[in-house]
Amino acid sequence: MEKQKKLATQLISAGRKKTYTKGAVNPVIQRASSLVFDSVADKKDATRNRYKGALFYGRRGTLTHFALQDAMCELEGGDGCYLYPCGAAAVTNSIFAFVEQSDHVLMTGAAYEPTQEFCDVILKKMGVETTYYDPLIGEQIAKLVQPNTKVLFLEAPSSLTMEVPDVPLIVKTVRAINPDIVIMIDNTWSAGVLFPALQYGVDISIQAGTKYLVGHSDAMIGTAVANKRCWDQLREHSYLMGQMADADSAYMASRGLRTLGIRLKQHQESSIAVANWLTTRPEVKAVYHPALPSCPGHNEFNRDFLGTSGLFSFELCKTLSDQELATFLDHFELFSMAYSWGGYESLILTNQPREIERIRPAITRKLTGTLVRVHIGLENVEDLIEDLSKGFARIKW
Ligand SMILES: Cc1ncc(COP(=O)(O)O)c(C=O)c1O
Repeated sequence: MEKQKKLATQLISAGRKKTYTKGAVNPVIQRASSLVFDSVADKKDATRNRYKGALFYGRRGTLTHFALQDAMCELEGGDGCYLYPCGAAAVTNSIFAFVEQSDHVLMTGAAYEPTQEFCDVILKKMGVETTYYDPLIGEQIAKLVQPNTKVLFLEAPSSLTMEVPDVPLIVKTVRAINPDIVIMIDNTWSAGVLFPALQYGVDISIQAGTKYLVGHSDAMIGTAVANKRCWDQLREHSYLMGQMADADSAYMASRGLRTLGIRLKQHQESSIAVANWLTTRPEVKAVYHPALPSCPGHNEFNRDFLGTSGLFSFELCKTLSDQELATFLDHFELFSMAYSWGGYESLILTNQPREIERIRPAITRKLTGTLVRVHIGLENVEDLIEDLSKGFARIKW
């Protein structure tokens, strides 16, 4: 049996078959709608193998897509990987592939906001009901499973509030009630490699590859890696919905993989250093970094994750006024204000407790201070700490 390669090595070699690189180091960028057949027999072959690596039609993918799909399957231990134009498309199409009218979805109440909105607007319109659960629910999830529950959706850690759910326990509990429920996770925070979701019994591991895979904030792509039992349905439904990624973005994601290991190492080291520094600051009430004991679900994180990335939150000891927010946020030198994260650069965003309450109705934890979310990039960590320190000094506490 071939020895399982270590992650750093896998990230360098995954998807770099000669068929895809054609003698170069990186896979070729094959931009195509039409893929030309040499003969009727070739066309027949391509049709038969159209979702098994044959060049058939641009929407089914080209060598550039296949290289990334192979790499993601190897890295996440899946049977197939579908590529979408962005992370949101990966989330919504994965759910959509497994529900029909009158079905029920169990959704984490601390999901990325547009994921919740998709349930509230689109699924509702389709007659699919959603129940939101507290991400720290553990085996109490059993009480929420209904005979018509078709999908359980997790996110680890949660967006903004950062709770780390007990994924193995939730999966085990739900499977014991109904093994047919399709379990999927938004695994973006871990770049799919710090949390081996499929090994924990999850069926589909979804990522906004826009974040760590691409890693440079300059392309958008979504990935969904599925196990054997879900792959055919996910692939064919997504294909019918016209989902695909362009070859250039697929190439950017493949290229991002080569530095992902070293980038994640630095995101981990720097984010923990900044988080530890924040715990010493009187302006900070609590730090929600999964690697720190103050983060709900820290024990589960220690047990289940292979490392941390660079995104976390902290709660200030008061709610900043609008004026204070502007004073705090408008003058950072290194932290930019932007949605998204996962690039090489540091980012900052805030949410007020009332906003969190509005978008997190299912979570029992209540915040009293402004929640600051930071993505710790690859800058020198002392420079980042100085920048944050100056931010605190701009406010009267
Ligand atoms: C956790 C999470 N999932 C999904 C997405 C959506 O990704 P995209 O912006 O590529 O659609 C985001 C984007 O911020 C995210 O933070």
